[in-house]
Amino acid sequence: MLIQEIFTPGHEYPPSSLQKLEDGPDVGDLIGSGSFAKVYEDKTNQYNVIKIGRVENEDPKKDGYLAFLNNIKRLKIITFPRVDTIEIFKNVDEGYIPYIFKVRMEKLIPGTELSSSEIISLFERFLGKNSPAEELEIHQETDIINKIEIFLGYLKRYMFTDGFADELKQIPDRNLRLAVRSMKKTMKEFKLDLHGYNVMFRRTPYGVQPVFTDPFAWLK
Ligand SMILES: Nc1ncnc2c1ncn2[C@@H]1O[C@H](COP(=O)(O)OP(=O)(O)O)[C@@H](O)[C@H]1O
Ligand SMILES: [Mg+2]
Repeated sequence: MLIQEIFTPGHEYPPSSLQKLEDGPDVGDLIGSGSFAKVYEDKTNQYNVIKIGRVENEDPKKDGYLAFLNNIKRLKIITFPRVDTIEIFKNVDEGYIPYIFKVRMEKLIPGTELSSSEIISLFERFLGKNSPAEELEIHQETDIINKIEIFLGYLKRYMFTDGFADELKQIPDRNLRLAVRSMKKTMKEFKLDLHGYNVMFRRTPYGVQPVFTDPFAWLK
């Protein structure tokens, strides 16, 4: 189902519970979790994951993550994850959570698994001549997240400062520019939540590619 159809006024959300979604026959081992969702292996496809989570807003249109999924489907930018299916359910559990979701998407690599040379190539290929001169050598896992946050810091300068539109053109990668522009736009409505664990990576024949998995939190 298209996410646009899900947001059509009057759309009926089938009832379900988190437990029922998590017990689904296609749901494998837990591989990650954040404040709103858990991510599992997809038993039907080794290249995918299943993300199951909560929408804490009465109106699904006002949820930052669902708005982001909508952008992914609409824009088809490769620095956003490939998303195969999106399902939204009315939550039948007691409590304040109105909706829950189940998303099937590509399996990505966490930043903590990148090597020093991958981090260096990430800066060179995606930030071009704005790439920082500082030492990018990595000694431990916390260093990697720290470097990724520095990388994100460069992108956030464009997002938070209006006069930087021209500088954005210096980012050599077209897909990264498109993603930054799209996030800058979405930031007007939703709170940006871009940190070292909300960007993941894809290994390609050309090198490692950043993929923004979860850049928005709630309504501003
Ligand atoms: N596409 C993915 N492939 C592999 N692991 C993922 C993927 N998406 C998320 N994860 C893992 O699950 C964790 C939580 O996912 P995230 O999308 O950040 O949800 P939350 O909204 O709960 O923060 C991530 O920090 C990461 O470890
Ligand atoms: Mg997260």
